Amino acid sequence: MTSTAPALYTEPLSDQHDRERFNSGVEPLDRYLQQQAGQDARRRIASCFVLVSGGDRVPIGYYTLAATSIALAELPGPLAKRLPRYPVVPATLMGRLAVDAGHRQQGHGEFMLFDAFSRVLRNDIASYAFVVDAKDDKAARFYQRYRFRFLIEGGRRLFIPVAEIAKLFS
Ligand SMILES: CC(C)(COP(=O)(O)OP(=O)(O)OC[C@H]1O[C@@H](n2cnc3c(N)ncnc32)[C@H](O)[C@@H]1OP(=O)(O)O)[C@@H](O)C(=O)NCCC(=O)NCCS
Repeated sequence: MTSTAPALYTEPLSDQHDRERFNSGVEPLDRYLQQQAGQDARRRIASCFVLVSGGDRVPIGYYTLAATSIALAELPGPLAKRLPRYPVVPATLMGRLAVDAGHRQQGHGEFMLFDAFSRVLRNDIASYAFVVDAKDDKAARFYQRYRFRFLIEGGRRLFIPVAEIAKLFS
């Protein structure tokens, strides 16, 4: 007998998803998905994409994307020097990324990160960098695996230039 693993894909959060049963073990991330994400999407504050498996209604994970900007002064000198002297440059913020506690360490976090990268690359609107807010040191280490580095005096904010992401896909 052969068995085929159900397809994994991301799609915009909708009423079809059973968000109440999503449990990342991080209460603010669960609460955001359950109470705020839909409203933020409708108001065009942040888009929310959920990772689902073969038509299952309970998300395995989710992430959000929104437009943001980075002050030139926050970028490391060698990068800033190659940019025009604008006070800020456009960027894309992945404000939240979470995988259900029962589905960790199976590549889903990486899958969603690259899914978000591909959305940014497909976007016709220019974005200089992809930015994330790491909620703690562990989360920062996760992003650093993918060549993210800290913004100067940016607190917990890390970035990777979109030009570097494009090279990862080439
Ligand atoms: C961080 C998180 C999204 C990772 O998701 P995941 O599906 O477990 O991660 P993956 O299975 O895709 O892991 C990809 C790689 O990163 C590593 N990794 C996973 N979590 C990591 C962490 N917290 N720190 C460092 N490395 C990590 C994995 O070991 C794996 O490496 P490997 O391929 O060499 O084994 C998930 O742990 C999570 O939801 N955490 C709680 C919320 C959170 O911290 N969100 C991030 C920022 S707000």
